[in-house]
Amino acid sequence: MRKHIIAGNWKMNLNLNEGYSLASEIKGMVIDEITNLNAEVVLFPPFIHLAGIKKLIEGSAVMLGAQNCHYKDSGAFTGEISPKMLKELGVKYVLVGHSERRQYNFENNQILAMKVSAVLSNNLHPVYCIGETLNERENKNEFIVNQTQLNEGLFHLLPSQIKETVIAYEPVWAIGTGITASVAQAAEMHNFIRKLVEEKYGTQVADEIRILYGGSMKPDNAAQLLSCNDIDGGLIGGASLESRSFVNIVKAVKS
Ligand code: 13P
Repeated sequence: MRKHIIAGNWKMNLNLNEGYSLASEIKGMVIDEITNLNAEVVLFPPFIHLAGIKKLIEGSAVMLGAQNCHYKDSGAFTGEISPKMLKELGVKYVLVGHSERRQYNFENNQILAMKVSAVLSNNLHPVYCIGETLNERENKNEFIVNQTQLNEGLFHLLPSQIKETVIAYEPVWAIGTGITASVAQAAEMHNFIRKLVEEKYGTQVADEIRILYGGSMKPDNAAQLLSCNDIDGGLIGGASLESRSFVNIVKAVKS
């Protein structure tokens, strides 16, 4: 049985105080309201929040993730943060290849493949993000686009490494738009992704790997999406910035 992950990607939002308040509220609600937590709850705040939030969430089930990292452990890379630094901070997961970084920071699959490897070599878990644009879907290229992103950015890994990774399917047209993929669309793509993992790595790995859905997931559509067999959790943007809506999504994971 795959353990679900409910992850909040705060993106470039919230000042320090707002971030600390949000993390404390989420920690409190998870402790007070959820007796049988059957998901991993992970917060992905901006880098500058990480050290403070790590202290705040200590003693709770809430875990920490980073939104990005460099592919080297150290060196002359002004403005960058390395996976080694993130490991020292107590981070567990690192987003790699979010569509916003692919779009605005021109990160391609080749760079992302190096980042995935660097994250793993620091004993962290990459959450490798894939997803097609609206234009690609309208031209019926959604399957080949996601397949290429997996082939070039993730499938260089060994079976022992891929087991430590998480895939996040985030259709770009659903991010921040309020338009969620229908359950049928999401289920179809998650099933396709798992089949690709199976073809490359075999049934056992395919059964174990977690595939998250992201794109306008909210408390009122989460239960339906999360009840799909191949959807193992959510990567949540907007709704993760409000403690009540985020925790309600955590509660939507069925036991
Ligand atoms: P929204 O939930 O705001 O659509 O963002 C999804 C996302 O990009 C999470 O990484």
